[in-house]
Amino acid sequence: MKRSFTFLDVLLVLVSFTHAPCAVRGHLYCQSTNSGMLRPHSVSITEFGAVGDGITLNTKAFQNAIFYLNSFTDKGGAKLFVPTGRWLTGSFDLISHLTLWLDKDAVILGSTRSDDWPVVDPLPSYGRGRELPGRRYRSLIFGRNLTDVVITGGNGTIDGQGSIWWDWFHNNTLDYTRPHLIELMNSTGILISNLTFLNSPFWTIHPVYCSHVTVQNVTILAPLDSPNTDGIDPDSSSDVCIEDCYISTGDDLVAIKSGWDEYGISYAHPCTNIIIRRLVGQTRTSAGIAIGSEMSGGVSEVHAENLQFFNSNTAIRIKTSPGRGGYVRNIYISNVTLTDVHVAIKFTGQYGEHPDEFYDPNALPVIERITFKDVTGENIKFAGLLEGIERDNFRNICLSNITLNVTSKYPWNCSYVQGYSDLVLPAACYPLKKRIYPEHYQDCYHLHNHLQISSHQKRGSQLLSW
Ligand SMILES: *[C@@H]1O[C@H](CO)[C@@H](O)[C@H](O)[C@H]1NC(C)=O
Ligand SMILES: *[C@@H]1O[C@H](CO)[C@@H](O)[C@H](O)[C@H]1NC(C)=O
Ligand SMILES: *[C@@H]1O[C@H](CO)[C@@H](O)[C@H](O)[C@H]1NC(C)=O
Ligand SMILES: *[C@@H]1O[C@H](CO)[C@@H](O)[C@H](O)[C@H]1NC(C)=O
Ligand SMILES: *[C@@H]1O[C@H](CO)[C@@H](O)[C@H](O)[C@H]1NC(C)=O
Ligand SMILES: *[C@@H]1O[C@H](CO)[C@@H](O)[C@H](O)[C@H]1NC(C)=O
Ligand SMILES: *[C@@H]1O[C@H](CO)[C@@H](O)[C@H](O)[C@H]1NC(C)=O
Ligand SMILES: *[C@@H]1O[C@H](CO)[C@@H](O)[C@H](O)[C@H]1NC(C)=O
Ligand SMILES: *[C@@H]1O[C@H](CO)[C@@H](O)[C@H](O)[C@H]1NC(C)=O
Ligand SMILES: *[C@@H]1O[C@H](CO)[C@@H](O)[C@H](O)[C@H]1NC(C)=O
Repeated sequence: MKRSFTFLDVLLVLVSFTHAPCAVRGHLYCQSTNSGMLRPHSVSITEFGAVGDGITLNTKAFQNAIFYLNSFTDKGGAKLFVPTGRWLTGSFDLISHLTLWLDKDAVILGSTRSDDWPVVDPLPSYGRGRELPGRRYRSLIFGRNLTDVVITGGNGTIDGQGSIWWDWFHNNTLDYTRPHLIELMNSTGILISNLTFLNSPFWTIHPVYCSHVTVQNVTILAPLDSPNTDGIDPDSSSDVCIEDCYISTGDDLVAIKSGWDEYGISYAHPCTNIIIRRLVGQTRTSAGIAIGSEMSGGVSEVHAENLQFFNSNTAIRIKTSPGRGGYVRNIYISNVTLTDVHVAIKFTGQYGEHPDEFYDPNALPVIERITFKDVTGENIKFAGLLEGIERDNFRNICLSNITLNVTSKYPWNCSYVQGYSDLVLPAACYPLKKRIYPEHYQDCYHLHNHLQISSHQKRGSQLLSW
């Protein structure tokens, strides 16, 4: 029987879109953080004595330019223009209402002398540096307590020249945790767009304790075997939108985090309302999208769609451990296309890696309401290696419309997980075998009554003119 529109249907659509899932709100945030693009004042880094020869150290020029531009923050802000050239620099600080603009052939190069990177306190939600106890090197481009910052350009490049740091890491000569390429802390209204990021010493873009962050149309590259060169790591941040990015690095392409064991639990800053869409990339050793392993402040409302991963170890991964506490809930991943991927979906419940011996082994994470929908893949070894935690099942895991060409004889291996599935090939493991429809769609995050969904989506998109 053909259904006809009723007033109630329309009302339902309106209600469901206004209370909306972050996907809808996230869409709006993606648009609205772009407001600071027009700045009434502009200077070029050359006016502050910078030399773009790739040899002269320009840290002072960047610092002086930004100090000068500080007087414009209450006058609509200002733009710092970086022209064609190779601009070597140590770490420098941003200010509010600033646009850092890199011309097409402008390259900001990170200094290869560790002295040019100041050492700062660890993050309170980590209690120590991530890879070594104690303090950590500050990122090349750093900002704290800021509002309205734009880092953009005509596909200019920010190159961390990380290979020296990877050598220091491999031969254990570092005293502190390696620096990120960009870190913004406790900041809001951040736009990072239209740029290329190369060879970060450690994670590439790290917004931590931030809100309203957009990363759009960026390319992030590092060798596939470079250590811990994550692409974008939203950490204890809310309303983050990542779209139209190409990332190929040595670790997770996007990793969503919120602090580490007892430090993350007590700091209690969740990561929430995270939108990821149109992400393409590869990672030989890690995941396209990872949640954790640091998730002790909680991670929720993650919507990811239109993802393409190739030549990769894992497409989507949740990593946690007893001791982490916190939660990962309300995660919706859809329209994923995979080619030559070892594991499509992976849960790791015993990740280990604790900051110190003071973590509480009884602090068990809650992992629930995780939906995977519309996933296809060619040359996949394992469809799902889903390992929860004994006496702490990962629950309401929902798989809908997943078709994978799997080469292993054992495509699924599940323990301590509970959930539902429909239209999954090869057929899902026993703990997820119960059908979603008709009875269990409400147990699944963001799955609706599929009799209504197709017509709702059409009308919803007209109403919102997506
Ligand atoms: C965060 O930034 C705001 C505004 O700049 C400031 O008032 C607040 O004290 C900062 N909080 C922390 C923990 O740094
Ligand atoms: C940021 O805010 C915190 C808390 O108010 C303050 O301690 C810190 O000095 C501020 N940092 C900067 C760089 O403004
Ligand atoms: C992406 O960036 C490139 C150059 O960096 C630009 O030519 C292109 O228009 C951008 N696309 C979007 C959708 O912004
Ligand atoms: C930007 O530059 C990088 C390399 O420098 C290139 O791979 C990428 O395709 C360019 N992006 C656009 C949108 O032109
Ligand atoms: C570690 O690597 C750096 C950079 O390649 C090199 O200068 C240093 O001599 C190495 N140290 C040791 C102990 O191998
Ligand atoms: C990226 O660059 C394109 C082409 O110049 C421009 O139209 C677009 O507004 C830029 N986007 C952002 C978010 O900076
Ligand atoms: C799914 O994602 C691909 C890109 O990966 C895109 O071309 C396609 O339009 C998306 N499909 C839907 C239904 O959004
Ligand atoms: C299943 O997913 C594929 C893309 O992966 C999509 O083309 C197809 O329409 C989906 N089928 C259903 C019944 O949703
Ligand atoms: C993948 O599996 C589907 C369904 O079994 C099949 O139609 C398709 O030909 C396979 N593709 C390859 C490359 O094996
Ligand atoms: C399934 O995974 C567990 C670890 O979670 C492993 O011990 C076991 O050998 C695996 N079984 C198969 C058939 O691969």
